[in-house]
Amino acid sequence: MAFDIAMIQKLYAAFPERVAAARTLIGKPLTLTEKILYAHLWENNHTTPFERGSSYVDFAPDRVAMQDATAQMALLQFMQSGRTKVAVPSTVHCDHLIEAKENSAVDLNRAVNESSEVYDFLSSVSNKYGIGFWKPGAGIIHQVVLENYAFPGGMMIGTDSHTVNAGGLGMIAIGVGGADACDVMAGLPWELKMPKLIGVKLTGKLSGWASAKDVILKVAGILTVKGGTGAVVEYFGEGATSMSCTGKGTICNMGAEIGATTSTFGYDDSMSRYLKATGREEIANMADAIKEHLTGDADVYANPSAYFDQVIEIDLNTLEPHLNGPFTPDLATPISKMKEAALANGWPTKIEVGLIGSCTNSSYEDISRAESLAKQVAAKGLKLNAEFTITPGSEQVRFTIERDGFLDTFGKIGATVFANACGPCIGMWARVGAEKAEKNTIVHSFNRNFAKRADGNPNTFAFVGSPEIVTAMAIAGDLTFNPLTDSLQNDKGEWVKLDEPSGYELPPRGFAVDDPGYQAPAEDGSGVTVKVAPDSKRLQILEPFAAWEGTDLKGLKLLIKAKGKCTTDHISMAGPWLKFRGHLDNISNNMLIGAVNNFNDKTNFIKNQLTGEYGAVPDTQRAYKAANIGSIVVGDENYGEGSSREHAAMEPRHLGVRAVLVKSFARIHETNLKKQGMLALTFADKADYEKFQEDDTIDIVNLTAFAPNEPLTMVLHHADGTTDTIQVNHTYNQQQIEWFKAGAALNIIRREFAA
Ligand code: F3S
Repeated sequence: MAFDIAMIQKLYAAFPERVAAARTLIGKPLTLTEKILYAHLWENNHTTPFERGSSYVDFAPDRVAMQDATAQMALLQFMQSGRTKVAVPSTVHCDHLIEAKENSAVDLNRAVNESSEVYDFLSSVSNKYGIGFWKPGAGIIHQVVLENYAFPGGMMIGTDSHTVNAGGLGMIAIGVGGADACDVMAGLPWELKMPKLIGVKLTGKLSGWASAKDVILKVAGILTVKGGTGAVVEYFGEGATSMSCTGKGTICNMGAEIGATTSTFGYDDSMSRYLKATGREEIANMADAIKEHLTGDADVYANPSAYFDQVIEIDLNTLEPHLNGPFTPDLATPISKMKEAALANGWPTKIEVGLIGSCTNSSYEDISRAESLAKQVAAKGLKLNAEFTITPGSEQVRFTIERDGFLDTFGKIGATVFANACGPCIGMWARVGAEKAEKNTIVHSFNRNFAKRADGNPNTFAFVGSPEIVTAMAIAGDLTFNPLTDSLQNDKGEWVKLDEPSGYELPPRGFAVDDPGYQAPAEDGSGVTVKVAPDSKRLQILEPFAAWEGTDLKGLKLLIKAKGKCTTDHISMAGPWLKFRGHLDNISNNMLIGAVNNFNDKTNFIKNQLTGEYGAVPDTQRAYKAANIGSIVVGDENYGEGSSREHAAMEPRHLGVRAVLVKSFARIHETNLKKQGMLALTFADKADYEKFQEDDTIDIVNLTAFAPNEPLTMVLHHADGTTDTIQVNHTYNQQQIEWFKAGAALNIIRREFAA
């Protein structure tokens, strides 16, 4: 599917030299992570090594992948860059907007009708700008990327947190916001804090009921949901090389659940086999030629604690299958302890539904092992005691498992096959009766199990396990069942045990697919029109933000003084607003509606200084905008923490807020504000937060002298006629000041391409 062989050739040609240079710079043997990161530096003229956990580094990723929900704003922004083609190979994958309700065909058809304008936009914009487009039904982004684009030693960013799945093929693959994707597609560097490194040594070999999923379920139990924050997890050891490539993908996928920046494995035979099985023998041969550079140095793996910030060791010979949950993926319970834990905690023990598949666990190996259990249902006179669903990760997997009779086996025991899409994993599951909010238990092979995640019901207790454990539990219908030791009564009244699962790492007859659902972009997209209906509620072509007027800013109104936590969710709420992600004006109606007004402790209830009346934040700001009056948002500590969602910066910019002044910023949000041409400022003296009053009018008086490391001055005019003058700091460098002056970073890129 048009993987970019020339790009990989070029990278591999330079790889040995870059690795050698990095080894000299760092002065010791290198982990795989360091090799890949240093081979992707934006500039190769560094004379001192970067410090893990503190240095910000510019990188040059090889690829960008986007899913349909986040691609919309990323591509609307990219259209403003003035480029005629993306600077790096990029793809769009339509997987998030398909609701699982009846079955694959019916559900896909409904989604195509309901979201046609979004799909038409994504298809046309991809066609125009040289982006590969994977249609609805083609599969889930991470599975499609693993099958077609991931390659050892590569670096990729993707607008989805489980982009990290591609670590299974030895990549450094990282989830980002749409603004970052836009920058890289426009040819700009991508900045990341040099991560810390966690090494996981895998000894022994998986066997019996244990699977790759149990490795990450165990790691999640050890590290917890925060344990990987700011770190890359690198797996190594005989246990790593003995595992399948897709199993490695599963482990890397759920690295997102421990907060890791990403996870990766060194290049080995399993990756070579997978590349060959998926039509990429050429890449396997190229990787073989530089294989010592595509894994960590021998000294590192021999003495890991000297090189990693933290080391964990897991023995696969003794690894027990786990079920993690409910409500959090790090509550790890070995299957032999589940009965005790369920009874002690009062978890509902009747299993209502078992769901296998998703981007995490829908490889041929996963499905074949689950099928080996499904076959035993008829053979041993058993039946399913829960509903059972399968979500294939790609059309290639679906087609192949259908050809090989697996879907037939599942069909015979009454399972439902959903579309090759996210579906229940992202809450796109029209589960009958979920609205009754009854306490119930489900088991699935997905990655996340937070309350409401799958079906919107806060009382659904969701447990995460391997596809084979999920299948066994659905057959038993009982959370206290241990398939390794317990028996089930069959239709003759006999007690029978399930045999251990067995399967195939790769399809013995090879993968097959009829229509993979891929649309290649036009060679020359100049004649392609991007489809956005002028009256669309969900999509809106962006207008460039206006350049700075070149004067100080006077007469700004205080819009809101936000109190306490103000995350990107408070600034731009998710949930029902998701459907407006591609329409800046419509989604701006959620601007700051979750922020608490310091003057009355209420959300979305602020004073309109023009009328004296109280109302919603977006309405008030729209009134100021209509009167051509700018405004300021004042905030507390760590303002804008949470996701990297660029909407949280674009909405205030769109509605006419000129500055955000806070005690401290979450770094990504601060950068997003700068990129959108806003003033992101911090109090020189945090106590000045108290000086802001509800009726304040504010001047920023020395903006014409805006320069790096020079504070700005604000004058607060209070309603009683008094004033306060305060100093505010900023972290703009000269280039970022140019972004402000131009009105946005994209305005500068557009100017460059127009020149
Ligand atoms: Fe989709 Fe769930 Fe994966 S939402 S991308 S299947 S984590």
